[in-house]
This record gives sequence, C-alpha cells and structure tokens, in this order.
Amino acid sequence: MDNLNTGRAGNDVGGGTDFFGTGNPSDLAKTYGTPLYVYSEVILRQRCRELTRLVTYGKFKVNYSAKANTNLSLLRIIREEGLLVDAMSPGEIFIELKAGFRPEEILFISNNVSAEEMRYAVKTGVTVSVDSVSQLEQFGKMFRGSKVAIRINPGVGAGHHEKVITGGKNTKFGVDPVYLDEVQRTLSQYNLHLAGINQHIGSLFMTPETYLEAAGLLLDIADHFPDLDFVDFGGGFGIPYHKQDGEVRLDLKDLGNRLQRLIDERIVASGKHLTVKVEPGRYTVAECGILLGRVHSVKMNGGKKYIGTDIGFNVLARPVLYDAYHEIEVYGVENRIDSKREPVTVVGNICETGDVLAKDRILPEVMEGDVLGILDAGAYGMVMSSNYNCRLRPAEVLINREGKPVLIRRHDTLEDLVRHFDDLES
Ligand code: LLP
Repeated sequence: MDNLNTGRAGNDVGGGTDFFGTGNPSDLAKTYGTPLYVYSEVILRQRCRELTRLVTYGKFKVNYSAKANTNLSLLRIIREEGLLVDAMSPGEIFIELKAGFRPEEILFISNNVSAEEMRYAVKTGVTVSVDSVSQLEQFGKMFRGSKVAIRINPGVGAGHHEKVITGGKNTKFGVDPVYLDEVQRTLSQYNLHLAGINQHIGSLFMTPETYLEAAGLLLDIADHFPDLDFVDFGGGFGIPYHKQDGEVRLDLKDLGNRLQRLIDERIVASGKHLTVKVEPGRYTVAECGILLGRVHSVKMNGGKKYIGTDIGFNVLARPVLYDAYHEIEVYGVENRIDSKREPVTVVGNICETGDVLAKDRILPEVMEGDVLGILDAGAYGMVMSSNYNCRLRPAEVLINREGKPVLIRRHDTLEDLVRHFDDLES
C-alpha cells in the first residue's frame, strides 16, 4: 500500500515538497475536472538546472526541444532558466516568440517544409536548419548570401521505439554525409554561410555511448567546415519510466564528463570557438507532469478486469502509438483497508479496442470514482492530444513554487469544437 496517496512517490521533488504542493490529486480533479495535466514547477526547474550544468564549457547551450511540451507558462519558466529552444514548425516559432524567446534563441529544425515556412522563419530572424540538399537548394535560391544550418544524419541511431529512431539507415532525417560534396557545392553556389550543423539520433537513450559516438561523428564533419558557429548534438536524453521497478536514471554526470572530454579534445584543443548545443525535450519536461483521470467504470470482459477511465488515447497517445509504459498511481484508496492488488487493464473512452493505457497492470483495487495519476506524462502528452471522437482536450495546471495550483491552460469547450466552422456558417 505504499506510494498510493502521497502523489508522485517515484519523483524527488526535493525539500520534502509533495508533487501536488498544498493540494492533493482528488481536490485538483474536483476543482479543474478530469482529464487534467498537472505540472510541478519545482521539478521543471530542477531538470532545467541539471541540463544547463551538464558541462563546464563556456560556449555550451541547451536548446529545449519544445515539441515535447509547448505550454506557454512552461516555456516561460524554461526561458527563465536560461535554455534556448528548437522549433519544428512556424507554430512552434510563433508560440516561442510569444513566450519571450528572441529570434536568435530559436533554431528552426525544418523537415520537408514549404517555401512559405522557410520565409516565415527567415523573416522572423530565426536560423533555419535544412534537412536535405534539395531543401538547401531551395533555401539558397530564396535567400542567397544568408546563413543556414544543416541537419546531418550521423549514420547511427537510438530510441525507445523504431518510430522515434532518427539517425541511421531507416529514417527520413538528415543529410547523409556521402552527399557532403553536394552540400559544399550548393553552399558556394548560393554564397551561403553554414552557421551550424545539427543532428538528433532519436528519442530516449539510457546509456550515452551512441550519443557520444554520434557527437564524435558530427565533430568529424565539422572539420570540413571551418567557419561554423555551432554544432548541435541533439536530444534523446532518457528518463526512467519504470521507477517503481527500480529502473536507474540516465547518469547525467557521466554523460556530462564524457561530453566535456570530447569538447576539450576536439574543440578547445584545436583552438576552435564553436558553440556546442544539446537539444533535450523529454528530459526537461517528462517528470514534471502527471496526468489525472477519473475511473468511470469497472467491469469484467472475457475474464479480464477493465478499468474504464476518461483518459482515452486522444489525451495520452504514447501507450497506443509506441506501447509506451507509464506508471499509474491510484488515489482514493486511503480508507480501503486490505486493498488487494490485482491485474487490470486500464482503458479510455475512445471507440477503438486499441484504446489501452496499461495492459495487465498490477494495481490496488480500483473503484468507480477513483482518481488515477499517470506518471511522467509531461513530455509528448498534451502536445499530442486531439479532439478525436469530439473529445475535449484537457486543462493544464501548474503547481507553482509556493505549492499552489494555477490554471495554465483551460480545457476545450464544446464551442471550441465548432469554432473553425463559425465563420463559414455566418
Ligand atoms: N531534436 C529533434 C530534432 C527532435 O526531432 C527531437 C524529438 C528532439 C530534439 C527531442 O528529443 P527528446 O529529447 O525529447 O527525446 N513522441 C515521441 C517522441 C518523439 C520525438 C521526436 N523528436 C514519444 O512520445 O516518445
């Protein structure tokens, strides 16, 4: 019966602070409704600080990969902590500017973008990284004489699922180094200044070997371009989703030491003045988020016990898309003496059999009305939510440093569902 009522037992908020601050999950669920994303400002700031202190190199920058979570309030906190950002779309650029990032603090890591999208970034003053010789050529024609960055595919990849491995042979991303001559030719044809090279090997590694190998490979490529301003080794820093099973954390200290050694040997020793960037999304925000949902039904079907909740895959898509594992806490069992633990399948309210949040999970007895906490849901949670089945996307609440809950995004309303038709019908 440990870890059931306190909230986020697996996460060290520090200073004896509970994840939910002065509140508790049941009250938050009552006040704001469910499903509900809840974030801890304390944990978010902790993670930001771990990252900005990763190495001691003076020209080191952390680009928060904003695709993991673009809540405006979280972006503002991340900016306050001194991180820069990447962007994957004009929408991300737009929201990052709104959060207070300056254009020069944003790197647009484009992938198969239109001329208009490139124009939007350049007009805004944001550096564009292109993802192919084809797009470099298009960029050159439009912005002759300007600066650009290029995403390289280092030939190695890593990730928690094949869908998120973004380096190596089986991916659409990056320029294969065999085309470096073409890159050189295109740069000089359009008189482009190559400001930086970047890469991203994939999402979620728990041991740093492949990341470091790829960083070395990117530095090999950097040797071909003496006028570079920056190299960006990408993100992918993993977090332990199986904390209750004792999964160990990524050893950030070890990664930092080894990265610093690489920087000393390959950059400092050769007298280069390169800025070094890393680009973690998940590591920054995953653990500061818990998704609350309510149990609406408990039933047996085909000999299995199903826990029916309001957390459909429109709210958290990761389990359905990648078979991703999120630990689950049950709130509301505090007065249930002798609560037995049993295997259950936790499902949502979407019209698909695949709408499964957790399969055959051992949980304490769950009853209608209980509130569940889906842990480590801060990254790729809310940003991947949708209105499938005309479900409303949830609200987001921040537990601030004083431990008080603050609404930082309202949930959708039924009117939001028809907003895009309004003009057409009037
Ligand atoms: N940089 C680039 C260019 C990326 O494409 C990504 C993630 C990152 C950095 C940050 O990766 P991270 O540090 O968060 O691993 N929806 C999936 C993850 C997709 C990641 C896509 N790219 C999930 O829920 O696991």
